Amino acid sequence: MIGFNIHRTVYFDNNATTQIRSEVLKDVSYYLKTSYGNPSSVHRPGFKARLILENSRSMVARCLNCKSEEIFFTSGGTEANNLAIQSLCLNSDSKKKHIITTSFEHSSVLDSFDYLHSKGFKVSYLKVNSSGFIDREELKKLLDKNTLLVSIMYANNEVGSIQNIKTISKLVKENGSYFHTDCVQTFGKIPIDLMELFNVDLMSISAHKIHGPKGSGALFVRKGVPLVPLIRGGHQERTIRGGTENLSGIVGFGKAAELICKENVSCSKKYFKFKNRLFSKVKKIVNQVELNGSFTNSLPSTINLYFPGVDNKQLQAYLSINGICTSIGAACSEGENEYSPVLTAMGYSVQRASQSLRISFGRFNKLDEIDYFIKILQRFFEDDEQVNFVNTDFVSDEVLNSEEFFIIDVRWEIERKIFKGFKQAHQFSVLGFRKMLDKIPNDKKIFIYCQNGMNAIFAAFYLKSKGFKDIYVYHFGLTGLRHLIDSDVETKK
Ligand SMILES: Cc1ncc(COP(=O)(O)O)c(C=O)c1O
Repeated sequence: MIGFNIHRTVYFDNNATTQIRSEVLKDVSYYLKTSYGNPSSVHRPGFKARLILENSRSMVARCLNCKSEEIFFTSGGTEANNLAIQSLCLNSDSKKKHIITTSFEHSSVLDSFDYLHSKGFKVSYLKVNSSGFIDREELKKLLDKNTLLVSIMYANNEVGSIQNIKTISKLVKENGSYFHTDCVQTFGKIPIDLMELFNVDLMSISAHKIHGPKGSGALFVRKGVPLVPLIRGGHQERTIRGGTENLSGIVGFGKAAELICKENVSCSKKYFKFKNRLFSKVKKIVNQVELNGSFTNSLPSTINLYFPGVDNKQLQAYLSINGICTSIGAACSEGENEYSPVLTAMGYSVQRASQSLRISFGRFNKLDEIDYFIKILQRFFEDDEQVNFVNTDFVSDEVLNSEEFFIIDVRWEIERKIFKGFKQAHQFSVLGFRKMLDKIPNDKKIFIYCQNGMNAIFAAFYLKSKGFKDIYVYHFGLTGLRHLIDSDVETKK
């Protein structure tokens, strides 16, 4: 029988973001209270703020074994990636107009490459194999005298594969090109030494992936690499990034970096134990389960599993109503294309990508949470309490006007203001859903939808747990439908 556990949260989505740790929070709130100065001001509060800023810069630099002056604070990994790639290419005096990346980078890298393509750069995308690795021979073939920049992520956010950055960056430098690596998922998880990685020119990192605050990150820029600002209007960060510094965020970043870099080896051991236990136990429940990517040459804290025949939205929702937070990968576009583009870039089918789940650990996870996950997963497979997922074909006038169906719209109020729903639908509030149960007839089929699928899935599982039988969920939500049925779904002007 489907259960709802509102008392327990098992957070297995640490690649999306992490919970701030108490030591970091303590420092952030202390400095928010006591250091209100602007680091650029020439008075005592300003000097104090400047001192704190530079101290945090040193803390981050120490973790990477680089110089403090090579660290430039940004609002996070996205901005660091944009700054590294666009600033170097658009402002370089070089005549070189060829840039290389992989097909499974974070969107902040891929979109920057797209943008540069629109500005006349030739872009080459390296293929990634099913274990999540590039082929260095392919890279060698692509590198030519016109190659200005190569950007390859250190560890992938969805499958965790760790590239051999030392060897790759050497190849790139031997060709006379710049090398950037997105280390947002790697920093704090495996040791990084920029003295050893001396061929790396640019490296992006972020605070909220290491139990620091959101909205804070940095770009490492090796001395001599020519960058000009993307955000102009101030002399901050040695004019590379204008704008008054986010001092509390930077303080939190420095503290989180200092703490995690001391612990990353012991944490890795713990995560590897979790990963091993989880995978071996899942195999006992679902013997067809398969791993996406590599088990060993990947972040110990990341595991991505393919459950053949299981819709990942359904599984994710079931886990979630039981308090377990996982991820089905970045929704790459609205509506019907909700699957991980990383998995398809690795050569997996769309079907496999739609049946895969990412689990990512952080420092607050405990071994007994693995066992809880296994218990709930087992229930999901044994109980066979799945709801019916329907697609666009199902949503016909015949169904909408049928006496057999009771139609429920569980969107947020703001979504209803933007898009009209079906006029036949009963509008139930997401938060007050429980109170509406007696309004739902027991003898009818229930068709339930929301804006993007997720609320409706939760509501459907809830109804199932309350004994309602025939439940149909419109998987993609109105977002997926609005291009297709203009007459029923209008955009409010
Ligand atoms: C690999 C990678 N790069 C960049 C980012 C963006 O970082 P931020 O959220 O700090 O902008 C993320 C965040 O998910 C990521 O996983």
